[in-house]
Amino acid sequence: MENIKYFIIDFDSTFTQVEALDELGDISLDGDPQKDKILKEIVELTNSGMEGKASFTQNLTRRLELLRANKRHLLPLIGRLKTKVSESVKRNREFFKDFSDNILIVSSGFKEFITPIVTEFGIKEENIYANTFVYDEQGNIIGFDKNNVLCLDKGKIQQLKALNLKGDVYVIGDGYTDYEIKEAGLANKFYAFTENVERDAVLAKAEHVAPSFDEFLYQNNLPMAISYPKNRISVLLLENIHPEALRLFKSEGYKVEVISSGLDEDELCERIKNVSILGIRSKTQLTKKVLESANKLIAVGAFCIGTNQIDLKSCLQRGVAAFNAPYSNTRSVVELAIGQIIMLYRNTIEKSNKMHQGKWDKSAKNSYEIRGKKLGIVGYGNIGSQLSVLAESMGMEVYYYDIVEKLQLGNAKKCSSLNELLSLADVISLHVDGRASNKNLIGKKEFDLMKEGVIFLNLSRGHVVDVPVLAENLKSGKILGASADVFPYEPKNNNEEFINELRGLPNVILTPHIGGSTEEAQFNIASFVPNRILDYINTGNTFQSVNFPNIQLPELNNAHRLIHLHENVPGILAQINNVLAKHNINILGQYLKTNETVGYVITDINKEYDKQVIQELKAINNTIKFRILY
Ligand SMILES: NC(=O)c1ccc[n+]([C@@H]2O[C@H](COP(=O)([O-])OP(=O)(O)OC[C@H]3O[C@@H](n4cnc5c(N)ncnc54)[C@H](O)[C@@H]3O)[C@@H](O)[C@H]2O)c1
Repeated sequence: MENIKYFIIDFDSTFTQVEALDELGDISLDGDPQKDKILKEIVELTNSGMEGKASFTQNLTRRLELLRANKRHLLPLIGRLKTKVSESVKRNREFFKDFSDNILIVSSGFKEFITPIVTEFGIKEENIYANTFVYDEQGNIIGFDKNNVLCLDKGKIQQLKALNLKGDVYVIGDGYTDYEIKEAGLANKFYAFTENVERDAVLAKAEHVAPSFDEFLYQNNLPMAISYPKNRISVLLLENIHPEALRLFKSEGYKVEVISSGLDEDELCERIKNVSILGIRSKTQLTKKVLESANKLIAVGAFCIGTNQIDLKSCLQRGVAAFNAPYSNTRSVVELAIGQIIMLYRNTIEKSNKMHQGKWDKSAKNSYEIRGKKLGIVGYGNIGSQLSVLAESMGMEVYYYDIVEKLQLGNAKKCSSLNELLSLADVISLHVDGRASNKNLIGKKEFDLMKEGVIFLNLSRGHVVDVPVLAENLKSGKILGASADVFPYEPKNNNEEFINELRGLPNVILTPHIGGSTEEAQFNIASFVPNRILDYINTGNTFQSVNFPNIQLPELNNAHRLIHLHENVPGILAQINNVLAKHNINILGQYLKTNETVGYVITDINKEYDKQVIQELKAINNTIKFRILY
């Protein structure tokens, strides 16, 4: 007979995303001028306790002293904790109900807030093992029940000994004390739960890691809320992508690995083998060679604007959909450009530098307002057109030039040639894309056409400007001031020296490619790209993919969705439909889009179908990728 299985689950940072006492402090210390300092101390104490570095009892006593909490703070705390239950716990609510006889919460937290949270998931009150508070007459929390073993060092071990469970014991938790149960021989397996926090000291010891509850259930062959393949999708995020992306992928139940740096080609070839979704920024090159090692890759997300670093053609040939964030940082670039125009017209940087050297240089010479000046925008795309709106609202007269016909915003005036724009503008701002033909778009001939005393900005791409010629024009005084955020060659990291002809020139603002680098933009990018990828994986929607034919699809309702990517040769749609007709399959909807190289067909079919059909669809010649959504 199979052994009974017991699941010992930790509460803080495992069942919930947070440490309840940290949250309690946030509530009880509200209005205290020392709040931030005290909270920091509490968090440090919590972490040292979780990593097994400090005496638990002393640590708990000190934390309660610092908290200065009262009974009345508990209700708001419970309200808050209810909103912070771990995503994968919420998802697997059924598991907690169905296995409630075998699930025990063993925590050195407090029953007062644990019980109302976990019982909502069907966990039995008698299966909750935790501390309890001691109050004074005014309801102030002044300590804890000292007879409870869970307030002691190695308390969880003692608790497990006392329980004397007869069966297999699985412990899931984020803390060192959870690991100690296994170390003491009281559990068969310990799973370090890393959905909310990753503690190095715990991970160093853990034999099993559960990035989510789904993974734990999957590894133990237990019923789970989401389907097996979904759970096994693994994501690799490189180059310090904002944590919002991690949160979004994890909340889908995916396994996510985060690496803060980029990887070179060989490293990436090695790491990408089992990866289904890759997230990169501008430094990592996704080359043909890397793609050849990427056996499972479904999608790549460029967490930036440009996609030059990705071999999009090879991606398409291997059925890998690529997505980027085309306008998540548009506003950030525009705000910087506006600020720089003003700063350059007032020669602010030079004046400020002099002040730092103790020099007072008060004069209005060569200082101008931006109001009424003619702004010439080269490239009227996302950024150019947004700049047009903001600049106009500040009183500038806007002119633009673009190689394709664009919607004129506000009172902006279209120029019929680049030359026309260059010869009339007081301020010239470049916002063209980085296509190869734009190399040295602004060179000697173009600078010669510009007016005397012009202000020049490049926040687009470095190779677009002939920089030595720009430097000559600054030195001669023809250009009154310039800003450059992008350069033909940019240092690979913060340790490499920046070498450029513009260094040391007066009234030149140099910034290290940070036009789009704001917290807001990083957050926008980190939610935009994962949402596009998740939509593609969950529905087949390729809207805004940079390489797949774009199809926007209705939601999948009580149907199976067959997704077929093939080389764009004649007759594939007919072959797909022949297979379906042969098997008497009812087509509920069909969508097709092609580009020069591939065709993308989505077919929604009703539920009853012969499984043989899948084999036949996969076997159609020129198929690149076939998948089915349930
Ligand atoms: N500095 C930064 O941190 C930062 C951040 C984001 C974007 N960018 C760069 O800014 C540029 C613009 O970004 P976007 O989102 O507006 O791109 P976009 O693709 O929306 O717009 C580019 C526009 O330039 C036009 N164009 C291309 N070549 C041209 C030419 N030779 N003459 C006139 N028009 C031309 C295109 O038709 C298009 O309308 C890109 O080069 C992008 O890489 C820089």
